[in-house]
Amino acid sequence: MPSLATLDKDGLEAFKEGAERELADFKAQSLSLNMSRGKPSPDQLDLSLGLLDVLDSQSDPGLYLAHTTSDLRNYGMLGGIPQARALMAALMDVDPDHVMVLGNSSLNIMYDTVARELRAWSCAAPKFICPVPGYDRHFGVTEHLGIEMVNVEIGPDGPDMDVVEQLVQNDPDVKGIWCVPKYGNPSGITYSDDTVRRFARLRPAAPDFRIYWDNAYAVHDFSDTPDQLLSLEAECLKADNPDIYFIFASTSKISFASGGIAAIASSPANLAKIESDLSFHNIGPDKLNQLRHVLFFKDLAGIKAHMAKQAELIRPKFASVLATLESELGGLEAAEWSHPNGGYFICFKGLSGTAARTIALCAESGVTLTGAGAPFPYHKDPEDRVIRIAPTYPGLVELKTASEILCTAYKIAAAERLLAL
Ligand SMILES: Cc1ncc(COP(=O)(O)O)c(C=O)c1O
Repeated sequence: MPSLATLDKDGLEAFKEGAERELADFKAQSLSLNMSRGKPSPDQLDLSLGLLDVLDSQSDPGLYLAHTTSDLRNYGMLGGIPQARALMAALMDVDPDHVMVLGNSSLNIMYDTVARELRAWSCAAPKFICPVPGYDRHFGVTEHLGIEMVNVEIGPDGPDMDVVEQLVQNDPDVKGIWCVPKYGNPSGITYSDDTVRRFARLRPAAPDFRIYWDNAYAVHDFSDTPDQLLSLEAECLKADNPDIYFIFASTSKISFASGGIAAIASSPANLAKIESDLSFHNIGPDKLNQLRHVLFFKDLAGIKAHMAKQAELIRPKFASVLATLESELGGLEAAEWSHPNGGYFICFKGLSGTAARTIALCAESGVTLTGAGAPFPYHKDPEDRVIRIAPTYPGLVELKTASEILCTAYKIAAAERLLAL
């Protein structure tokens, strides 16, 4: 395939017309395909069906009492049962005494955490740093709460730390930063050791600045060479910065999405504030679901064994999309895409000014993709070039056709762009 840069006007026209004919053939099939949903497929969820059976009151009538000193069927234990705290602490690479296991959703905990912190801020115009491309729902939380968002680019090692340090250490209105440190949504990037250490050593201008560390994909490896992430908590303690972090995680993409357990980790001082605030809006989490997870997974090794089975289902899907991107767009020298070792997304970057057009052409041809601009604050991709691809949910056949359509649509958008220039 020729590099697009080598084509003259006639060559580009011919290239575009060829792609338009291909797309018309796809359109004629009246397809309805979807690569926008970053959620587990039904066969991934099937792997957790045993969770529904582990609480068996017939064979073990004392189950609800045996595991703690309290009756797990009743109110209480705001921070979760000890075994679930230990399980989530292992997953989050933190001290079990620094963890609270709350409801079914880490996003819910993140929203509450930002809202709680915000009430104590004294400045009129608080800001959050938003590494981009990032998770749209993070940006939704801060936008909804009226917090100004400042973009910082993510590179191969994580956010540009020179810029992060400059902002955090000089501007007292900067109160937080969103981070997805492992297999970022949608970048696929895992922060390097140096990046984690620089986070831990931040000396913010605002004493109430916090790192919002959403380790949603901590155990979601599907490669033989999985990424490794340093423990933020351990590094913060070494750097004598014990209160600077909130770490979040859940089992949404391990057990059941919206039916898992979610946790927050932070210093004892921060947790004490959370606990006193929580006492006003909760009388206790769903401890039976926590017990169910403890009995089903047992420990971190159990979670990893479970995730290895999920990896078998996910790996071929990523391989299929990557193979199509390579065969259709490989030689064009007009796009790049991530090759993640885990997580839920492939991050596609085309020429400037092509993402919205590509996504619209896909929609006309029956393929739904995540909206253009979604991975950016205020839905604004400054260069209009990032497309988030979510391969986990569709079946392999659907995925293959959808990625072919994406590539064909992109060829048209890229040729149009170059012709316009
Ligand atoms: C980075 C990230 N954090 C959090 C979530 C949602 O987690 P939960 O289901 O625990 O609210 C997602 C879901 O896609 C995600 O990608």
